[in-house]
Amino acid sequence: MNNIIEKKLSGLKLSNNYRIRKVKDSGNSHIFVYKNKEFLSFASNDYLSLSNDKRIINSAKKALDKHGYSTSSSALISGYTKSHHMLEEEISDFLGQEKTLLFSTGYQANLGVIKTLVNRGDSIFSDKLNHASLIDGSIISRANFKRYRHNDCESLENLLNESKSKSNLVVSDSLFSMDGDIANLQKIYSKVQNHGALLLVDEAHALGVYGENGRGLVNKSSLNKKLNTFITGTFGKAVGTFGAFFSGDKDSVDYIIQKARSYIYSTSLPINAVEATRKSLKIVEEENWRREKLFSLINYFRKNINKSGFSVLDSSSQIQALLIGSSKDALYLSEELFKNGIYIPAIRPPTVEEGKSRLRISITTDHQESDIDHLINILHTISRNLVQS
Ligand SMILES: Cc1ncc(COP(=O)(O)O)c(C=O)c1O
Repeated sequence: MNNIIEKKLSGLKLSNNYRIRKVKDSGNSHIFVYKNKEFLSFASNDYLSLSNDKRIINSAKKALDKHGYSTSSSALISGYTKSHHMLEEEISDFLGQEKTLLFSTGYQANLGVIKTLVNRGDSIFSDKLNHASLIDGSIISRANFKRYRHNDCESLENLLNESKSKSNLVVSDSLFSMDGDIANLQKIYSKVQNHGALLLVDEAHALGVYGENGRGLVNKSSLNKKLNTFITGTFGKAVGTFGAFFSGDKDSVDYIIQKARSYIYSTSLPINAVEATRKSLKIVEEENWRREKLFSLINYFRKNINKSGFSVLDSSSQIQALLIGSSKDALYLSEELFKNGIYIPAIRPPTVEEGKSRLRISITTDHQESDIDHLINILHTISRNLVQS
C-alpha cells in the first residue's frame, strides 16, 4: 500500500469528506432505488423529469438500431453526422444564437472553450461560486485567474478596472449549482461591455427551466447574439439526456472547432444521445406545464420549509440548499433522512467551502406536494430529536 495515498485517504475520512458512491438499482428523477428499496429522492438534476420519457427513449432506440452505438471517431475525423449537424442548428434556433457546437460533456466544453478564448497574459474573472469545470478550464488556460465575490458586480468591476491584460474574460454560472441563486446577467454584461471583455455564461442548471419555453437565462436577459457573449450548457440536467454544447457567433464557434482540444481529441457524441436530445428539446419547448408544475412545487416548498425547523438559503429556483455547516453534521442529517426513506446526499468540501456543508435539495416536475410535505415532516422529527438530545 502506498503510504502517502493511505495517509491522504485517512485524512479525508477523518474530516468526514471521504466520498462513497451508492450503487443505484434504478430511478433518475424523484425516485432512487437502492438495494431493492425505493427512496424518495431530492438528489437529481432531471428537473423536468424527462430522462425516462418514452418518446425520448424511442428516438434513442431508433437511432441505435439504425446507426449502432459509437461514432467511432472524433467529429473532425469521421464522427460528425447529419444528426449532430441538425441538433447544432436546432439549439442555435432555440437559444437565438448564430452557431452551436456539440461537446460530449459540459465539463469538456468549459475546459476547451475557456482555454481557447484566453491564454497566458490574458485575465479571467470568475464568480467565487462558479462550477468546478469553469475553474479548471480557467486554471489550464494559464491566464491570470481572479475570483470576484459571489454575485457582486462591484467586486467584478474593481477587478476589471485593475486589469492590465489585453483580453479579459468574465465567466459565470447563470444559475448557481449549489446555492440555487441566479446571476445578474444584465449587470454583468454592462460591466463586460464597458471593459471590452468577453463573457461566458454556463447555463447548465437554467436551460429548460428558465426563460420563455426553457430557453435559459441568457435569452431571458436578452443577451443572446450580443457581441462577445457565449454560452455553454449540458443536456444531462433538465433536458434529461446526455451531451453538451457551446453557442455564440459564427466566427467564435468556428475558432473553437479549430482550437478546443477537448473537442478535437475526443470521440463525438453517440447518435442515439443526439437523437434523444433532439426529441427532448422539442418537448422542453412545447410542454410548458412541466415548468409551471416545477415552479408551483418550488413555491410550495419555500412557503412550508420553515415548518421543518431548518432554514434554506435564499433561492427561487429548483435548487434549494439547507445549509448545515460541518461535514459531520451534514452527513448525519443525510443518513437520518436515508433511514427514513429519503435520499439527499450531503454536499461537502471541496464542492462547497469548508464550514458550508449542506443538503442540496433539488425539486423535479415528478415530485408531488405530498412528497414535499413528507420531507418537511421527517426533517421536523429529526430537528426535534436533535434539540432534545
Ligand atoms: C454549472 C455546471 N457546468 C457544467 C457541468 C458539467 O456538465 P456535464 O455533466 O455535462 O459534464 C455541471 C455538472 O454538474 C454544472 O453543474
